[in-house]
Amino acid sequence: MAGKGKVTVVGAGFYGSTTAQRLAEYDIFAEVVLTDIIEGRPEGLALDMNQSRPIEGFETKVTGQATGQAGEGYQAIAGSGIVIITAGLPRKPGMSRMDLIETNAKIVRNVVENVTKYAPDAVLIVVSNPLDEMTALAAKVSGFPAHRVMGQAGMLDTARFSFFVAERLGVPVGSVRTLTLGSHGDTMVPVPSACTVDGKPLASLLSAADIDQLVTRTRNGGGEIVALLKTGSAYYAPSAAAARMARAVAEDSGAVMPVCAWVDGQYGISGVYLGVEAEIGAGGVRRVVERELTGSELADLRTAAEAVRAKQADVASL
Ligand code: APR
Repeated sequence: MAGKGKVTVVGAGFYGSTTAQRLAEYDIFAEVVLTDIIEGRPEGLALDMNQSRPIEGFETKVTGQATGQAGEGYQAIAGSGIVIITAGLPRKPGMSRMDLIETNAKIVRNVVENVTKYAPDAVLIVVSNPLDEMTALAAKVSGFPAHRVMGQAGMLDTARFSFFVAERLGVPVGSVRTLTLGSHGDTMVPVPSACTVDGKPLASLLSAADIDQLVTRTRNGGGEIVALLKTGSAYYAPSAAAARMARAVAEDSGAVMPVCAWVDGQYGISGVYLGVEAEIGAGGVRRVVERELTGSELADLRTAAEAVRAKQADVASL
C-alpha cells in the first residue's frame, strides 16, 4: 500500500541516513527525502535504500538530493510535512556537546533559513547538538509557531536509562518504564518517581546508590559511545527516537513522549525550550504534559531550565 506525505531528513551522515532508513521502512510515507551538502552522498544512499525495498517490502520512495548553502537543491524538500534536521558535526572523544555550539549554530541557521523557504508548513524536529540550544535557534530562525518546532533528546535519554535498568535487573526492556526531563546534557533530570519495573517502583528494587550509578551512566550515555567509537557519535538509538517522533506527527497519534518542547508556564517555568513530556500530533506539540514531581525533581528541572535559558539566549546571536 502506498504511504502518504513527504518527510525530509537534512544531513545524510550516520544519524540522518539511519533515520531515513527507519522512516522508509515504516512504509507509511509516500516519500522520504535525504539531503546533504556532500555531492553524491544523499543520492548514493537513497539509491542503496531504494534497492532494499524489494527485499524488505516497503514502497516508500527515497530521494537523495545534494544541497548548497544558497538554497540550491532545496526544491526537493517542497511540500514536506516534517523536516528532521541532523546537519552538524558530531562530538569527538573528550568533547562536550556544548563544544559544538558555534559550528553547529552556523550550520543549523543556514539549513533552517532554506527549510523555511521551501517547506513553510513543516513540523521541524531538531537533533543537531547541543540539542536544546539548536532547537531554540531553529524556532527563532524559522519564525514558526513554537509547537511546530521540537527537539529529540528525552526519548533517547529515557531509552538509555531503561536499557541500563533492564540490564542491571536482568529483566526485559519492555518491563521497564523510566523518564528523564531537563536538558540533553549536564542538567539532564532523571525522574525516579516515574520509573517502574513491571509496575513496581524502581526504588523498591534498587538502592538509591544503584539508581544514582545508572543515572550517572545515562547522563554520560552519549559520551560513553563517543569514547568507544573514537570517530562520530551514537546513531542507532538516536535515529529510532527521531523516527518515532516523526511517526507520531505523521499519524497524528497523540502519543506522549519526552521531547524538547517550548515550555510556557508548566512546572512554573516559562519561555524556554526544555525536555518535557508532550503529546505529539499532526501540528507538532499538542500540549506539554505536566506530571507530579517530587520536590527535588522539580527543583532540578527548574535548575535545568535556567541553565538552558542562558545558553539559548546566547545562541540567538551566533
Ligand atoms: N546541510 C546539509 N547537511 C550538512 C550541512 C548543511 N548545511 N552541514 C553539514 N552537513 C552534513 C555533513 O556533510 C554530514 O554528512 O551533516 C552530516 C553529519 O553527519 P555525521 O558527521 O555522520 O554526524 P551524525 O552522527 O549524523 O550527527 C549529526 O546529530 O547527534 C547529533 O551531535 C550530533 O550534531 C550532530 C548531528
